[in-house]
Amino acid sequence: ISGYSTIFLSSVDSTNNYAARPEMQSKIQDKTVIMAANQSKGKGQHRNSWESEVGKNLLISIVIKPKDLPIEKQFFISFSTALALKETVSFFLSKNAKIKWPNDIYINTHKIAGILIENSISSNKISRSIIGIGLNVNQINFSIKNATSLKLIKKEDFVLKSVLEYLLYRFDYHYKNILENGSKIQSLYNSNLMGKGEWISFLTPKHEPFKAKVIGASTQGKLRLELQNGAIQEFAHKEVFFDLGN
Ligand code: BTN
Repeated sequence: ISGYSTIFLSSVDSTNNYAARPEMQSKIQDKTVIMAANQSKGKGQHRNSWESEVGKNLLISIVIKPKDLPIEKQFFISFSTALALKETVSFFLSKNAKIKWPNDIYINTHKIAGILIENSISSNKISRSIIGIGLNVNQINFSIKNATSLKLIKKEDFVLKSVLEYLLYRFDYHYKNILENGSKIQSLYNSNLMGKGEWISFLTPKHEPFKAKVIGASTQGKLRLELQNGAIQEFAHKEVFFDLGN
């Protein structure tokens, strides 16, 4: 795949952990993709696990080692990845997927992909970013009730390699852009967010419901909402939850 080297593993604990192993560092250059058919300890966000049937889904970590990306731009990596995934899902389904802030990909009320990014910082720059991506492709049975896959929606099988190629093509496009300046990435990300400009339901951490409109993510990655009293408020992770009714 153009510009990216791929390491394929039949089984590993987690592709993100593999990419972080000290003894692997000489083998893993900038733009390396670690892909696994199976993970015994796949990691999700917030210390959750990530489950996947063997060989059915895309389980990858894209490793980038930017030379000059200041930490202030760390969310641009997250924006680029979410956009690339959203574009990939939309392309293969011919259907508009949404980014659920901060970086889950949804088709209506169902999650089809998730992202777990682990950055290393040195002298105020991102020296390495391990971008873990789990995209449900050909799996049709899930233990989680709000999960879905390309196959569940389109009723056909997909070739993992083709999905990976398209994803990398879109990721590289956005990544090149943020290395150049990244001026457009934030508004592009914002315009693809679930609830953008629409009154939708949220829950507070105490499960109190409220309605708000998504304005977008701040440069610090916080979610900016317009409340019904007209106020604009920023929320960090775990300070607000989307209420999708499932
Ligand atoms: C989420 O909770 O939404 C994030 C899921 C990220 C899962 C992927 S699968 C490949 C990579 N390796 C991991 O251990 N996790 C990520």
